[in-house]
Formats: sequence, C-alpha cells, structure tokens
Amino acid sequence: MTILLATDFAGDELTQWLTALRSALPGETLITERASCDAASVDIAIVANPPAGALAGLPNLKLIQSLWAGVDKLLRDASVPVDVPLARMVDPAMNAAMAETALWAVLSLQRGFFAYAQQQRVAQWQAHPQRRADETRVTVLGLGQMGRAVAQRLASNGYRVSGWSTRETQIDGIDARCGDAQLPRVLADAQIAINLLPLTAATTGLFDAGTFARMRRGPSFVNLARGAHVVDADLLAALASGQLQHAVLDVFATEPLPASHPFWSHPQVTLLPHVAAQTDPRSAAQVAACNVRALREGQALADLVDRRRGY
Ligand code: NAP
Ligand code: GLV
Repeated sequence: MTILLATDFAGDELTQWLTALRSALPGETLITERASCDAASVDIAIVANPPAGALAGLPNLKLIQSLWAGVDKLLRDASVPVDVPLARMVDPAMNAAMAETALWAVLSLQRGFFAYAQQQRVAQWQAHPQRRADETRVTVLGLGQMGRAVAQRLASNGYRVSGWSTRETQIDGIDARCGDAQLPRVLADAQIAINLLPLTAATTGLFDAGTFARMRRGPSFVNLARGAHVVDADLLAALASGQLQHAVLDVFATEPLPASHPFWSHPQVTLLPHVAAQTDPRSAAQVAACNVRALREGQALADLVDRRRGY
C-alpha cells in the first residue's frame, strides 16, 4: 500500500519532510503526486494544506494524518472524506514551542518591553513602573495540548494563571474553569488573555466587541490560535478606545496578512507570521509514523479528531 504526502510544501521544506518521513517509515512507499500511482493503492494520506480535491477518489483511504494541530481547514474542505479517521498533530515539541511564544508575549507585556520598543523608534527615554509576574493575571482560553503547556509554563514562571475549556479539567497551580457560564468570570479576571481555542462554529468570532467589553479596562490580548476567532474591526476599536492596551497576533483571517491591513503598522499591535508553534519535521515525522504503524498493526489510532466537536 502507499502513503500520499499531500501538502503545499515545496523546495527545501518538501525535501526536509520527505527525508524525515522516509527515515521514520522505512519500508513504506511514500509519494507526493497522486498521478504517480493507482488511486486504489493509497491507504494513508499525510497532509498539510493539501491541494483542493487531493483526498477525493481514494477508495481505500483508511487514515488522514494531519501535520497541523488545528484541523479547521480540513474540516471545512468538502472534498475530504468524512468517513475516514482524521488524526491531528499532537507533538510535545510543538507544545513546548507554543509555551515559549506565550512566555515571550506575556513577559514582554508584563514588563512593558513592546512599549519600550515603540519608544526606541522615537528616541524616547522613559521608564515605566515595573510590574511583577506574581501580580499579573493571565487567562488561557483553551486548555488542550497547547493551552495546558502554556498555562503550566506561565505558572512555573510565577504568573497567576486561570484557564477555560468546555470540560472540567484539573491542572496543578491553575484556576481551571469550564463552560460558557464561566467565560465572563475568566475574562473579567484577565490582565492578559491568550487564545488557544480550536476554530469551530462555537469559537468563530468569539473575540468581538462584546467579549472585549467583558474584560476589565486595559488588558492585553494574545491570539496564537486562528485569525477567524477575532473580529478585526472590533479589536481595532477596542485598542483605539483603550478597552484593550495591546494585542500580540500570530494568526490572521487572511494569511499572509495583506500589506494594506492596519495591524501591520499599528503601534499597539505586535505581529508574528504564524510561527507561534511550527510543526517540526524531526519530531512530527515520528508522531505521524506511530499512527501509520498503529494502522498497519490494527492498533488504536492516536489523536483522532471528533468531527462532531470540530477538534
Ligand atoms: P486541543 O488539544 O484540541 O485543545 C482545545 C482546547 O480548547 C480544549 O481545552 C477544549 O476544551 C477547548 N475548547 C474547545 N472549544 C471550546 C469552547 N467552545 N469553549 C471553551 N473551550 C473550548 O487543541 P490544541 O492542540 O491545544 O490547539 C489549539 C489550537 O491552537 C489549534 O486548534 C490551532 O488552531 C492552534 N495552533 C496554532 C499554532 C500556531 O503556530 N499559531 C500551532 C498549533 C496550533 P475541552 O477539551 O474541555 O473540550
Ligand atoms: C498551526 O497553526 C497548526 O495548527 O499546527
């Protein structure tokens, strides 16, 4: 049987993935072009932004393994077969990278380093009061693989961390809340709110004027999940009115972010080009290989997406 690698990778990036996957899956046939084999021989697809229709018409497909943690785009693609198990990328190396990005954002906000970077641009020498980590309340929205790692890293750095999920969960040192009824409470608490929710029908546009208004005046917002969680116009209005102080944004409704978008030059916005936690071929190829082996050996597949929940 054959594994189809269906991605938008090219050049060195594609070579790196092929090398990592071939080394993790010795003895497997791995192809990148559907046309190069009989469609009936493909039983596994490993995907990252697959070209439109790449997974349609594969009669023996038994596993779709995403190289991305978030599968919202795959779930929106009508050509992705709904009856084939879909596994998402769950890689401790990615969780660690996300925790580093969140720590950088929170530390920079706590100590005013983004404001000092703005001051440097205009040669302004001015110190601001120094806030301590243990007087900074951070709320992490989404306590899954990424959110949990972020919450734990922040707590171990001395921050006062609360979190929010749909199901009850316990994490040492974290004030974990769950369900829609608790959202106003966790929002009202936050001096810094970090979004690590999956993009689903329930979370699309969650960060709008109403949500920002539920927060105390002047917190900062960090979006490391998906751009469509945020209503951009409402975020800009909240920054303009002082309801929000600063936004750190890694993800955008349209990527790459168009050059004309006001976020690019906004003094209260710090931008990253969707790099908060990149999939690392060195570890992710091993994660994908585990599921390939599980399928071959008739074992349970790991990290399957619950299509009903959307994550
Ligand atoms: P995950 O393990 O599936 O965790 C999702 C968390 O969100 C869970 O705690 C879940 O709660 C909670 N949740 C889902 N819907 C909710 C709702 N309506 N209300 C409250 N809580 C809700 O996902 P993950 O691996 O941590 O990844 C999270 C997201 O990060 C991904 O979907 C992706 O969009 C994004 N991401 C971004 C990057 C980047 O580089 N920027 C990299 C990787 C991932 P329950 O489990 O209790 O239901
Ligand atoms: C990146 O955004 C991912 O979902 O892996």
